[in-house]
Amino acid sequence: MKRQFELSRRAFFIGAGSTAFLGGCKCGLLGSGCRPPRRPKPSERINVAIVGCGTMGRGNMEMLIRDPRAQVVAVCDPVTELKDYGYSRKGRGLGGRIAFRRIVNERYKGDFCRAVVDFREIADDPSIDAVCVTTPDHWHALVAIACMKKGKHVYCQKPMSLGVSEGIEMTRVAKETGVTFQVGSQQRNASEFRVAAEWVRNGYLGDCMECEIGLPGGSFPMWDYPDDRTPRKAPAYFSPDGTWDLWQGPAAHHPDNAFIPSIHAPMCWRFNSRTGGGMITDWGAHHVDILHWALGVERSGPVAVENFKSDPFGADPLLDWAGNYSFDLVYANGFRAHVSNRFPNGLKFKGSKGDFFVARKKLDRPEFLRKWNEKRDLGPSETHLYKSAEGHCHESDFIDGIYENRPIATDCEIGHRSISACHIANICERLGVASLKWDPAAERFHGANADAANELLDVGHFNGWDIDRI
Ligand SMILES: NC(=O)c1ccc[n+]([C@@H]2O[C@H](COP(=O)([O-])OP(=O)(O)OC[C@H]3O[C@@H](n4cnc5c(N)ncnc54)[C@H](O)[C@@H]3O)[C@@H](O)[C@H]2O)c1
Repeated sequence: MKRQFELSRRAFFIGAGSTAFLGGCKCGLLGSGCRPPRRPKPSERINVAIVGCGTMGRGNMEMLIRDPRAQVVAVCDPVTELKDYGYSRKGRGLGGRIAFRRIVNERYKGDFCRAVVDFREIADDPSIDAVCVTTPDHWHALVAIACMKKGKHVYCQKPMSLGVSEGIEMTRVAKETGVTFQVGSQQRNASEFRVAAEWVRNGYLGDCMECEIGLPGGSFPMWDYPDDRTPRKAPAYFSPDGTWDLWQGPAAHHPDNAFIPSIHAPMCWRFNSRTGGGMITDWGAHHVDILHWALGVERSGPVAVENFKSDPFGADPLLDWAGNYSFDLVYANGFRAHVSNRFPNGLKFKGSKGDFFVARKKLDRPEFLRKWNEKRDLGPSETHLYKSAEGHCHESDFIDGIYENRPIATDCEIGHRSISACHIANICERLGVASLKWDPAAERFHGANADAANELLDVGHFNGWDIDRI
């Protein structure tokens, strides 16, 4: 029988007496105002807040609204309202907290959703069970950590962090607080990627020691946004006064605290190193995640980056990540992933019995696997990779994890390890070196140029934002 949920007009807080705290806050964090996570009973809705009302925030929010077990009770963004979000000029949609509140209330047919400027208000609100972090990358660590410490379950968009140290801290806090954490690597919910990873894991390609990963190039302007570099005062949609500072947050400000459309307009922040990691992290987060899944190194990582070549870092002072790049990620058993913006977008695994290519909605089967059927042919003793409940998307998988307090598709550590591999490649680019040796156990570089590279593991937080005090 389908459970019936009634929308609650006011978000509700249920204390420890009425609901079991299954996660348990094992951390020494409790003393510092940390709260244990709440796991609602199956008959209760999960109150969710969207932090970051932009392009992906809309996508995640729509999926959460569709899940009758979740209720979007708050939306948060320093932007009021703007119709400039999306991948093409034609497809631009609404964003900002006022627009999102209106969209949620229209869906629920009532006044159920609050619009909030500052995410710390969301973190502090005990009636909110879970947050969806869909801000630009420079905010992920601080928002996620602030919310986890207050007992909130977190769905955090990829790339999970802006730098390796942030990911280490996020993983520590996720483990210590016991919250459910899903990283937005939704490719794990697509059967073509799962089947591909199962073939590699189970040795269907024979000896498979190599793959090619194609990511987009970093050229700009992208998605029809104009390349407008004239510094100006922040637009009026950052309102009330001060919300522009809340957009920039821990990222170092540009001279005169200027707003520069080419790097501050929706989505464009990806190409500037203060707010994003370029295409190596933007898409590497997806495909390196699948690589790690296929190799079974999800809680470890490569031992080296080699053969790094790119346009020089910072040749363009604003869009400073290289547009063209290629490098190898080398793993402890000698497996080599060649990554480049010159390969087709996706992963091509090469084995002694044959090769295959996988991309979104595409799985090119080698002849000998043409008739392979997962349900029939994957033997009980073979590795079966994680599959969400039937028909559940990545967001609903997150909701399952909250109710059931069980592992889900992409936990914090998995997301951290996937993106660490991309960050260490970006560090080669920043230093202008062809190779770096990485110790995945210590999460430090060693060997030539290690000192300079280790300095770059911490991206730094500016303007008074402190990851240890959030
Ligand atoms: N999983 C995927 O396939 C996928 C696809 C696209 C984007 N993403 C990820 O989603 C995230 C958002 O990307 P986007 O393309 O939607 O960017 P966007 O620029 O369209 O939206 C980001 C929104 O966050 C807001 N924001 C900035 N600072 C904030 C703060 N302190 N509090 C609340 N909101 C704040 C911005 O004002 C903006 O409205 C990124 O991490 C991106 O990598 C994932």
